[in-house]
Amino acid sequence: MNARNVRYSGNTAELNAPVIVSVLLNDICNLRCQTCYLENMNEQSSLSREEWNNFFESLFGDLKPNATVFVGKEIFAKDESVETMFDALKQRDRLQASKITDIGVITNGTLLQRYRNRLEGSSLDWIDISIDGPREFNDKIRGEGSYSKLERNLDWISKAFQGDRLWVVPTLCDANASQIAQMIEDLNKTYGISHYSIGLYKHRSSAPDLFSVGDSEVRRFVNDLSRIEIIHPTKVVLGYKADNPDSYSEIFNLPDSDGETVTTKQIDLGNSISLDIQRNNRNMGLWRAVRISSEGDWLAAEDLFDHLNYKQNAVTNLRDVRYDARKAYEIGLRSPRARSLGFVQL
Ligand SMILES: C[S@@+](CC[C@H](N)C(=O)[O-])C[C@H]1O[C@@H](n2cnc3c(N)ncnc32)[C@H](O)[C@@H]1O
Ligand code: SF4
Repeated sequence: MNARNVRYSGNTAELNAPVIVSVLLNDICNLRCQTCYLENMNEQSSLSREEWNNFFESLFGDLKPNATVFVGKEIFAKDESVETMFDALKQRDRLQASKITDIGVITNGTLLQRYRNRLEGSSLDWIDISIDGPREFNDKIRGEGSYSKLERNLDWISKAFQGDRLWVVPTLCDANASQIAQMIEDLNKTYGISHYSIGLYKHRSSAPDLFSVGDSEVRRFVNDLSRIEIIHPTKVVLGYKADNPDSYSEIFNLPDSDGETVTTKQIDLGNSISLDIQRNNRNMGLWRAVRISSEGDWLAAEDLFDHLNYKQNAVTNLRDVRYDARKAYEIGLRSPRARSLGFVQL
């Protein structure tokens, strides 16, 4: 497949595959986090393991994105979803003699012990574990006892997945901003965990908003981060979209975009922590970042928080393109949704 030129907000870029494809495999979870944007998700006709395997054939054999991540709802809450994830690894390893697509999973970490042996021996490239604060706060958001269930897995998983194969991914909101830095110090000292990716709480269309994140709390988090004492050199990534409050860029002293898609800045906090700021300057959906629902709906990444409207926002469904990843991607690029996101294929 030849790379093609695309125009985006007046700039031209080369493109032949998405950077990241995120996949929902089921609509179930053992927790009920107060912040969850997938709460009450109900997908009646999820793709079967066989259908996903048909799709993986073209995803890893033809389209070959840089990364595929299994995002839930909670993969480890359903055996069939776990088996499907392991199938994906097998297919990727078979179809890509020289690896192109990294495969990761994002999980609440509370159910991993059932798959310990298989995870330890797997070719999974990385695991993201969501922890929203120290025990008490995490349990308040994620449910009583959830920290203990997660804790039983932290020791072995941090030994099996070292360095940048294990990321802790807290969702920052006003309520926990004062506690995340301390949590990072504790996890670093106890388990040697050295990679963290901070998500900013996003409003949900499906539930009332109980949380938010203001710039003063982001400032506070960064300030706290520069004061903690860690043992193992650590990377903390904080990403946001340019249409978030401009003041974030002020906090990090980020210049205006010079046409680049992502503006990055590495800040050495002086205590062996590197804070990596990533600002997305434009929409990524359908060309760089694709989301697939458990029922096979092909969506722009921007539409992921709006699970009530997956059907309306989908540009196609995997069943309608006979599980052909390339075809779905092409339809996405030509779709009215792509145009509404500001993207034009030349
Ligand atoms: C929806 S969860 C699914 C995967 C898995 N169950 C977990 O919790 O990691 C994916 C990620 O989204 C985060 N998340 C949930 N609700 C959010 C919201 N309203 N804003 C930002 N991130 C959110 C979670 O903390 C988690 O890191
Ligand atoms: S663990 Fe993940 S999917 Fe489950 S309720 Fe929490 S955020 Fe939502």
